[in-house]
Order: sequence, then structure tokens, then C-alpha cells
Amino acid sequence: MPFDLRVLVKRLHQSPLIQFLIPKQLTNQNLLRNVTKSGNQYNKFRTDFANEQGADFISPAALPSMAGDSKPEIKVLVVCLGNICRSPMGEAVLRDVAKKRGINVEVDSAGTAGYHVGEEPDERTVAVCRKNKVPIDSLARQVATSDFINFTYILASDENNLRNLERIRPSNGTATVRLWGSYLDNKPIPDPYYGGLGGFDKVYDQCVNLSNAFLDEVTK
Ligand code: 4NP
Repeated sequence: MPFDLRVLVKRLHQSPLIQFLIPKQLTNQNLLRNVTKSGNQYNKFRTDFANEQGADFISPAALPSMAGDSKPEIKVLVVCLGNICRSPMGEAVLRDVAKKRGINVEVDSAGTAGYHVGEEPDERTVAVCRKNKVPIDSLARQVATSDFINFTYILASDENNLRNLERIRPSNGTATVRLWGSYLDNKPIPDPYYGGLGGFDKVYDQCVNLSNAFLDEVTK
């Protein structure tokens, strides 16, 4: 039975058995690697977690591949203009597609503009995600220069946003900054803000296709 790695990580951080074993700098990826090692202090945690989840999946043999054991951690920032329509949907869809494919990816989103900072996603974005049973939970924020260091990939929804990202990119930025569409068909995600609900359905379909194309490329 599949389980959510985020639940496992949360339980690890909550576990009094494990807490004292977690130095601050240990990444979740390494934490997951540790928990898979047999014959160590994590034995009781593994048994308890398996009981809680009603499954026997947490065998040391099964977990490493689920935790993306030998793959580097991928951190993705999806970017649009306002961070209330396209990029929160892109964030939610990419996280959902990656989870369904068993790929360990961290996803966030941001806007190149600050008009909507602190706001929940547009109600049409939320409605389309709900309709497709994709969890969505984000608050708008503006892109920061630290994002170019903290993320491995920054995916722009259209060329305007790509240009703005390239303009503010700091010289020590390490992130790969690309048009999200460049992983599939080079098409932008059109801004649906001033249109109807149908435009948001199209953005959703595009996000699913782009998520799959992006994950195909980075897990090659
Ligand atoms: P987004 O859409 O960039 O996909 O979040 C927009 C949201 C707000 C505005 C424009 C586009 N606006 O002009 O306020």
C-alpha cells in the first residue's frame, strides 16, 4: 500500500524516539535514508509507523527507492505574475503528479509581481484543483533573490516572467531557470486571470502535461 513520504517525515520529526537523533542540518532526504537502515535505532519507529499506517511497507528494502535514494533532491519553484492563478495551480499539480509517480520533489510557487502577496489562490484555481481532486494550499509571495540559490529549477509560466526572472537573477544564483513549456512544446501558459473558468481548465491540463514532461526530463 503506498503512503505519503511527507507524512513519514512529519512523524519522524514528531517522534520522541527519533528527535534526539536528528541534527539540524540533516536533510529530509538523508533522514529518510537513515530510517531505512536495518538494525539501528529506527527499528521501533518503523514498526510503530507501519502499525499506524496499517501496512507492512516500511521494510528497509522497500523504502530507499520510494525515498529517491540515489537521486539528488529536486526543488522546484513555479513562477507566474501574481502567484494566485497559474503558479499555485502548477505547484499543486506538479506535487500531485510527482507523488503519484513516486518521485521525491519539493515544490513551491511565487510571482514576479507583488500585487497579491499573502492572498489565497484565485477561487477559480481552487475550484479546478478541487474538481480534479488535487490538494492546493498556498499563499502568494513574490520571488526573492534567495530562490535562485535555494531551488534547483525555476519554471516560468511565460516569456514575460522568464525575462523578469533573468533580470533579477543574482550572479551567484545556481538554479536552472527555464520556460516550463521548454520541457514539452515551448508554449507559454496563457494568463487566465481576465477570462472565464474554461481558461483555468486549460491551464490545469497544461500543468499536468508539463509536470509529466518536466519529471521525465529530470529523472532520466
Ligand atoms: P497569475 O494571474 O499570474 O497566473 O497569478 C494573474 C493574477 C493577477 C493579475 C494578473 C495575472 N493582476 O493583474 O492582478
